[in-house]
Amino acid sequence: MIELRHVVKRYGEATVVDDVSMVVEPRTVCAIVGTSGSGKTTLMRMINRMTEPSDGKILIDGEPNTKLPAHELRRRIGYVIQNHGLFPHRTVAENIAAVPKLLGWDRAKTAARVEELLHLFGLDPARFANRQPHELSGGQQQRVGVARALAAKPNILLMDEPFGALDPIIRNKAQADLLDIQRSTGTTVVIVTHDMEEAIHLGHRIAVMDGGKLLQYAPPAEILAKPATPFVEELIGSAERPFRFLSLGSLEGVVEPGEAAGAPIAAGTNRRDALAELLWSGRDSAPVADAEGRTIGRIRTASLVSGAARPAA
Ligand SMILES: Nc1ncnc2c1ncn2[C@@H]1O[C@H](COP(=O)(O)OP(=O)(O)OP(=O)(O)O)[C@@H](O)[C@H]1O
Ligand SMILES: [Mg+2]
Repeated sequence: MIELRHVVKRYGEATVVDDVSMVVEPRTVCAIVGTSGSGKTTLMRMINRMTEPSDGKILIDGEPNTKLPAHELRRRIGYVIQNHGLFPHRTVAENIAAVPKLLGWDRAKTAARVEELLHLFGLDPARFANRQPHELSGGQQQRVGVARALAAKPNILLMDEPFGALDPIIRNKAQADLLDIQRSTGTTVVIVTHDMEEAIHLGHRIAVMDGGKLLQYAPPAEILAKPATPFVEELIGSAERPFRFLSLGSLEGVVEPGEAAGAPIAAGTNRRDALAELLWSGRDSAPVADAEGRTIGRIRTASLVSGAARPAA
């Protein structure tokens, strides 16, 4: 559990986080939304003491977060910064192993954990462990960033706009993966986002910030039904837009004869989710399997985007 009590951050004359109190229950996702400069990042960074509050208290599982030295606290809390923040000259495996190494894990345990995470995120260790970040797609880099933050099995994961750089379709898949992992590990997640739709999708509770103040902190259904202020109402309005243009139908009509590598996509998948799967896994094509698991053909990114399979030659 994370508890903020009357937390304040001032920079000179400016109060950028203004008397915020809230509780994040264990094993839940808290999404912080608000306009640029509203204090979201500052608020989150005070949880792991990347930034020290000017006033107020933050308790983690009932203990003040000042009890441990800041560097130890930070190793125990996973942190995903904007644009993944991978070490550019280290391999994928070295990036993921960074915190376990600081914590003094032995080699075998660290290597096993790296391998486990690569599998969890759908990155074949034989292909990806020794690559450098620039040799990965954007979606793959983002996955490594999240894997790195989870390496030492933190109870708390802080994420600052982790999917902001991803296009909306890949983001959809990234969000689904995060929810799966959060459910299976029971990690408490605090995620900052600009995007109300993302907050509604991911958050058990949503914290709406404006000008350093916490305007509303409530489950998504309550925020939607009873926005506390006109500002919150306006933010909700913006959540209705995306994706309609891609609410495409089934894969029928885009499956073509031929083979493709990697995990198959079920024939019943809709086009948007199939496209997300391809983009997220960095593939141009994938086999399509029927309900019995038999391969019935393949789909290609190009035909999903254009809406038609290549005519048979
Ligand atoms: N180290 C600093 N010194 C002075 N002012 C700062 C510092 N860090 C942040 N601020 C100010 O605090 C305010 C809140 O910044 P913060 O980064 O928390 O906003 P944010 O909600 O995360 O914005 P964004 O959505 O653009 O990331 C901003 O006005 C910013 O300029
Ligand atoms: Mg920010």
